Amino acid sequence: MASDPPAQCCTTGFLHEGNPTGSLITIDNGIKAYLASPPASKAHAGVGILYVPDIIGIWQNSKLMADAYASEGYTCLILDLFNGDAAPLNMSDDFDIMGWIAKGSSGENPHTKEVIDPIILSGLKYLRDNGVKRIGAVGYCFGAKYVIRHYKDGIECGFIAHPSFVEAEELAAITGPLSIAAAETDSIFPMEKRHESERILIETKQDYQINMFSGVEHGFSVRGDPNVKVQRFAKEQAFHQAVSWLDSHLVDKREYGVKV
Ligand SMILES: *[C@@H]1O[C@H](CO)[C@@H](O)[C@H](O)[C@H]1NC(C)=O
Repeated sequence: MASDPPAQCCTTGFLHEGNPTGSLITIDNGIKAYLASPPASKAHAGVGILYVPDIIGIWQNSKLMADAYASEGYTCLILDLFNGDAAPLNMSDDFDIMGWIAKGSSGENPHTKEVIDPIILSGLKYLRDNGVKRIGAVGYCFGAKYVIRHYKDGIECGFIAHPSFVEAEELAAITGPLSIAAAETDSIFPMEKRHESERILIETKQDYQINMFSGVEHGFSVRGDPNVKVQRFAKEQAFHQAVSWLDSHLVDKREYGVKV
């Protein structure tokens, strides 16, 4: 594996302040989603982002992040990967995360790749049906794996932060550029996994980027404490990293080295 399975640290976090302005919608197959649309004056025509969330799913922080991508010009769709069974923020110590993935809280609502892959395909189809011709994807923690897995289904460019559960073969198979934001302290994406990922990325011959942030832990880009300067800085940098990456690969028409 190029990153380990999720663990308790996957839900620890702080609520961010703000009023989400997107809408909760239902797409194909009854899948719930959150849609943030850009202001007409800034909209990148025909370009959109699939937001593949952490295990807390569609919640205050992810909604605000999607709104922020929209304010940068991108239509942004967050998918409910969990059929209404997202994990709670700051779950209790006895929350069995691997059991939740295997079976869901009810025992009959698994959150495995067999269930989630088709949800991702529905999200990509929704974007295409609504005029998005070039699709970027951002994936946080648990969601990162599904960005990596679905380049083949039309994701042109990806950004992931503190990934979990990514298989080496999945990473090796990406067919477009990938940017990664990583935390110094992360038992799920520790130094050896980062280095392994680096070796794999070199072999893909794709454009890639890895940014490492000191002073933060797994989850920082979505759930960091905005009142702690180092955490706020890393969260904002990771967001701008994603936007610059997407802008460069999906919006900026200039080729490297060509002056316009
Ligand atoms: C989550 O737990 C941390 C400490 O572990 C706490 O500081 C934080 O306020 C909690 N977040 C929420 C939203 O309750």
